Amino acid sequence: METALLTTQDAQYAGELLKAGEVVAFPTETVYGLGADATNDLAVKKVFVAKNRPADNPLIMTVADVEQLASFVTISESARQLMAAFWPGSLTIIMPIKPGQVSMLVTGGLQTVAFRLPANETARAIIRAAGVPIVGPSANTSGKPSPTTAQHVWHDMQGRIAAIVDDGPTEVGVESTVIDMSTDTPTILRPGAVTQQQLEAVLQQPVFDATSTESVANHVTPKAPGMKYRHYAPDKNVLMFDPLDALALKSALAAEDVVMAQDETLATLNLPLTRTWSLGATLDSATEQLFAGLRYYDESPDVGTIYVEKMPPIGLGKAYNNRLAKAAGNQEFTL
Ligand code: TXA
Ligand code: MG
Repeated sequence: METALLTTQDAQYAGELLKAGEVVAFPTETVYGLGADATNDLAVKKVFVAKNRPADNPLIMTVADVEQLASFVTISESARQLMAAFWPGSLTIIMPIKPGQVSMLVTGGLQTVAFRLPANETARAIIRAAGVPIVGPSANTSGKPSPTTAQHVWHDMQGRIAAIVDDGPTEVGVESTVIDMSTDTPTILRPGAVTQQQLEAVLQQPVFDATSTESVANHVTPKAPGMKYRHYAPDKNVLMFDPLDALALKSALAAEDVVMAQDETLATLNLPLTRTWSLGATLDSATEQLFAGLRYYDESPDVGTIYVEKMPPIGLGKAYNNRLAKAAGNQEFTL
């Protein structure tokens, strides 16, 4: 299959391809997604094949407005509050399905389904043109870091899908926050740009973070089926490090090792430019650059271990550290 490269001007055509049962990669503000008509089982199957995704990992459904999801799920008062506060935006909300309304292929057999309404205008224009909710997993091969540019998508999906809509690098750089609103206690299943504090401020009740170190230490099993798989992981060895250990790291580095860190840390390390990937000066820029750097070094032939700086675990830092820990298989550089 020839994969067409489209621009943001081609939203109408991309929508027509989706309506015709084709798979189209589309931009969102978090990462690129792999779209297909969520009401067409054949189209949804193509997404599992293109990603090589396990069939028991449910897909999220992406919509252009709240009306588009009303027939599929029961929306509680608190879920409605979240939609009003954070949509369009980087929040995916899990709700109970109205019986028989969503294909087993999308839900993986669960009684719930996840919905997302992205901030990216082109994404919404494409979904409006398609006229149906589209499934929207990240547009990477299963297990690889999510794509933050159309080139990343091309690398993983060329020849496997009908088209890719290029809208430049994504803003956030990590996938949306996933919150389960189908149980009594709202529960974060995946940290993202919308934080626990922001969610609690809107809901006026405690929100449980199932991904926090305490929850993991207490053996709370991951409820997002996708979180149990090896994820976001390059083939190369990845180690996280604390910026306070930068000097010790410098003396431990082998000639072929590379470092991804913020400019201040890179200044301390004083390494050749080819061996460093700048995460900029802010937490936002670090999060935006994380997957791009991992993908770049994973593709570079002469690279040994990839060392990546950890961020303070506050706000978006929780999402950043969560993805980094997965890429590193929890391995840390120690003195
Ligand atoms: O930012 C994002 O959310 C991106 C962009 C493209 O929209 N999409 C994305 O989708 O990250 P995906 O499929 O790669 O990740 C969705 C996660 C998976 O871990 C999946 O297991 C979980 O959400 N999930 C989906 N439906 C669920 C459900 N009903 N119950 C629990 N977890 C669910
Ligand atoms: Mg994914």
